[in-house]
Formats: sequence, structure tokens, C-alpha cells
Amino acid sequence: MRILIKTKQEIEDMKEGGQILGLILDELRAHIVPGMTTKDIEERADKLFQRFHVKPSFLGYKGYPSSICVSVNDEVVHGIPSANKFLKEGDIVSVDAGVFHKNLHTDSAIAVGVGKISSEMKKFLTAGEEALYKVISIIRPGIKLSEVSEVIESTLKQNGCSPVHDLTGHGVGRFLHEDPMVLNYVDPHAENVTLKEGMTLAIEPIYTNGSNKIKVKSDRWTIVTRDGSMSSQVEHTLAVMANGCEIITKRPEMDPIYYKI
Ligand code: MF3
Ligand code: CO
Repeated sequence: MRILIKTKQEIEDMKEGGQILGLILDELRAHIVPGMTTKDIEERADKLFQRFHVKPSFLGYKGYPSSICVSVNDEVVHGIPSANKFLKEGDIVSVDAGVFHKNLHTDSAIAVGVGKISSEMKKFLTAGEEALYKVISIIRPGIKLSEVSEVIESTLKQNGCSPVHDLTGHGVGRFLHEDPMVLNYVDPHAENVTLKEGMTLAIEPIYTNGSNKIKVKSDRWTIVTRDGSMSSQVEHTLAVMANGCEIITKRPEMDPIYYKI
């Protein structure tokens, strides 16, 4: 395992890219409505990547054919945007995107309800946010990765959800995927890294409301739940700082000072 520690300057540069990614995801969220296709979301994203002069990290990554991932209902991750996939009222959608800016990657995902969603689905989406923000509140130098995984697993389980074992968070920055893997459940056999200042991590609770078994569809990208249960994902890139952590992919809606940009 080789964990790449980022300099202060690299973290500043990642914050620039991350802020753009946050703006893009907020803008996409605001336009998700019943009747549109997942391709419509990608087209809007492409315009925004261009407008902000950044590259989509995912396009071409291991041959991935699109600039973002849009995963609907039982789709867990890596949904390829399609002009035939229409969103309808009550659906739940995860939009996952990466920005490459100043030679550094940032990675973030939002979970969005289409139109009016059931209170059950609202609660389901909130579980992921709760897990992510609890992690953000505990990360600082000296914390072990197992503590991060424990917070994610227990928060999801308390909400009646199952963490997916086969998909993980990861280091991010000079590459889209760097060491270490950040598991969404506690594996006593996993190497237990101690977090240090300058590490940059993509934390991404990925979970279902049924079994956590998954399979890959025939398009060789889209991952779905085996039992058809609902799945969601939220993600932020974080930097471990001297006395806590910083959200690199902050979204304007979360912090009023960002509205002024
Ligand atoms: N966002 C994904 C992750 O968090 C990466 C997508 S890989 C791609 O790891 F190939 F779909 F782009
Ligand atoms: Co990621």
C-alpha cells in the first residue's frame, strides 16, 4: 500500500476543483425532474464541465464511456447515462462525478429524489448523508480507517440499511483511485491505516434497503442489487487537516458563503 500525501498547495488546488464539482452537482440536482432521461443529466454536466474549463475524471477511465455515472433505484453505481432511461416521480437517483483540474482529481456523489418521493425513500437517502457527515465529524490525524468504516456501517445499519461490501471509498488526488481503500463495513482482516495530515480520501457510503449482494449488468458497467432492492450512494472528497478534516467537494447549498461565487 502506498498512500500519497498531498502538499498544502495540492490541497488548495483540489479545493478549487472540488468547489467546481460541488457547483456542478448542485446545478444538476436542481434540474432533476420526472420525464427527463439520465442522458439529459449528462448533457447538462458536460456543458458545466466545459463552462468551468475542467475535465470529467470518469470519461475514458478504464474505458468508461460517459462523463458521469447516474444510478437509478436498484442500480448501485456506474449507471451509464442513456437516452432511453426516463426518470419518473418517486425514483431515487445517485449522480456521481469527478473533476480533473490542475492535474488533480476530486470525486463526489449526490443522492436525489425525483419529484415527490415517499417518506420511506427520504429516510433511506438521509441514512447515507448521516453516515457521511458522521465520518466528516470524526476524521482527524490519528484516527484509524476501521473507525471510519465502523461509523459508516453502524449508522447505515441503525437506519435499517445494508452497506455494500464490494464497493469502497478510496484515496484520491493525483489519481482517481489511490490507496487506501475505505471500506463501508468493518473487516478485521483489512490493513488498518492510521490517518495522517495531507491524506485525501473519497468517502462513499454505498448501501441498499435489502440484501447487499450485487451483480454487473450486461453493459459490463452498471451494477445492480441482486434482489432488486433500492440502493443509494453519497460521496465527498475530504482532506485530513492538522485538527480535523476539510470537505474538498463542498456544495454551495451547504455553506452560504459559497453562494457568492
Ligand atoms: N466515482 C467512482 C468511484 O467513486 C468512479 C467511477 S469509475 C468510472 O470510485 F469508471 F465509472 F468512471
Ligand atoms: Co469514488
